[in-house]
Amino acid sequence: MAFNGSGHILHSIYWTIMAPKGQGGKPLEYTQKYINWYFGNFDAFKDQFISASNDIQGSGWGILGYNTAFLRLEVLQCEKHENLSIWGTIPILVCDVWEHAYYLKYQNNRKDYIDKWWTIINWETVEQRLLNAGQGLLRLFF
Ligand SMILES: [Fe+2]
Repeated sequence: MAFNGSGHILHSIYWTIMAPKGQGGKPLEYTQKYINWYFGNFDAFKDQFISASNDIQGSGWGILGYNTAFLRLEVLQCEKHENLSIWGTIPILVCDVWEHAYYLKYQNNRKDYIDKWWTIINWETVEQRLLNAGQGLLRLFF
């Protein structure tokens, strides 16, 4: 249940956080503010997310999550679909780094896939997911 259920959830998010026409745009207001608050600046977050995703041992996911217990964002490495997760975290932005996500086009060049994937993130969906996860709490901080 943990493996298949988590795999279903993460893939369902993954399909929605990529822009359909390859134009991801830029992070929206609350995403930008919250990332700046927790990670210092957007580039620091981007470096941490990409590094975490690229360094996962074997199959897994890079995840930007909103932890409802700590009321903050966190970058997680997830092995398979469910290992190394933390209770209370809602996945906001997820990057599939199983080989099936990139092998046909990028062979074993996971980093090239992640860099390209980054350019098609649908930041509008990320913003909505973050606002929904925070259930309005974020608006209290900014
Ligand atoms: Fe996958």
